[in-house]
Amino acid sequence: MTITLDRETIKQDRALTTEEVERLRNEFPILRTRPNGKPLIYFDNAATSQKPYRVLCAIDKYYKNQNANVHRGVHFLSEIATSAYECARKKVQRFLNANLSCEIVFTRGTTEGINLVSNSYGRKNVKAGDEILISYMEHHSNIVPWQMLCENTGAVLKVLPINREGELILDDLENLLSPRTKIVAITHVSNALGTINPIKRIIRAAHERGAVVLIDAAQSASHLPIDVQDLGCDFLVCSGHKMYGPTGIGVLYGRAELLDSMPPYQGGGDMILSVRFDKTTYNTLPHKFEAGTPHIAGAIGLGAAIEFLNSVGMKRIEAYERQLLDYATNILKNIDGVHIIGTAREKAGVLSFYMDCAHPHDIGQILDSLGIAVRAGHHCAQPVMEFFGVPATTRASFALFNTRDEIDALAAGILKVKEIFE
Ligand code: ALA
Repeated sequence: MTITLDRETIKQDRALTTEEVERLRNEFPILRTRPNGKPLIYFDNAATSQKPYRVLCAIDKYYKNQNANVHRGVHFLSEIATSAYECARKKVQRFLNANLSCEIVFTRGTTEGINLVSNSYGRKNVKAGDEILISYMEHHSNIVPWQMLCENTGAVLKVLPINREGELILDDLENLLSPRTKIVAITHVSNALGTINPIKRIIRAAHERGAVVLIDAAQSASHLPIDVQDLGCDFLVCSGHKMYGPTGIGVLYGRAELLDSMPPYQGGGDMILSVRFDKTTYNTLPHKFEAGTPHIAGAIGLGAAIEFLNSVGMKRIEAYERQLLDYATNILKNIDGVHIIGTAREKAGVLSFYMDCAHPHDIGQILDSLGIAVRAGHHCAQPVMEFFGVPATTRASFALFNTRDEIDALAAGILKVKEIFE
């Protein structure tokens, strides 16, 4: 009991203060938008995050003053662009605490990172009869690439189940892992439920059976501190646009030894050392996996987003968003006819719910008329919806700039939905 209280106190102490959040809000120009004449309340951060000035300025500066292709030219601008692009890679390396910067591959996003691993590592190492383990709460992008790999190789897809709270049933993990398990692909935080999974424990168990582990960090990278060396994961993927960075840029972290042993994912410029018609030699890491002109501005923007996150502090963000989640949960769970899906003990700032009186899309529209942006739908996690027996939910997902006042406005909006539909 004392320990719990101490932990709570520490969490409270380190969370962002109201004044700090107010200051941070000024860094997001979009928060001045007035949808339907109302102040914007942006609760769709799990779909994509908003961008602070720092990121917008970095992209602007790149196109205005630095634009050139990377790794190719000997001229002034090309050297500046190359150095800015590679500097962004180093920022990602430090942010994830990867051992080497060559372990950071820039991708289009989480989805491409997973497809890269499944096509490259998977096709090389997975054979008929082998097993791939995912969980019931995965986003479609951490299901379908593995199904495709199974179709192509004759491997078998296994699924770790969840309980009614939306937690993984870890007692089943030992039974589902076998010497045939080649890959375990698990989300760090569920986009539909908010559950934070005990990935360290899962990684350890998978490694004991000789499987490699991919962590989908799309929903955690801007909400929780991540240390890939401490986790011991083999691969980790995330998306820039959910981390206050631009769209179209993402990251695949892979242990150098594994990335080195993997065949390229796509062929083209920059991923080669030499090309002859009888033999092509591939480039070293990470360029082997970055065919074609990369999203240079995206990488630089992501670097700026990481600087922004570092300046706020990941632990303080985590603690503040946890406070927001607790506040919102306590209010919503006491509104008659509102049902929260995802009540795990360890949760990030995602609140998915359905109402007895109205369809999620109607709820979304009424909230929109009040200036409140939420997502309504299956959140690309249809198995989760099926498990809970609902076609869709309304989802409010929080960021470091959200406030309790905004949550009060959400609650008032929900009461308005009740008034209209009941
Ligand atoms: N994966 C994103 C979401 O959960 C798009 O909304």
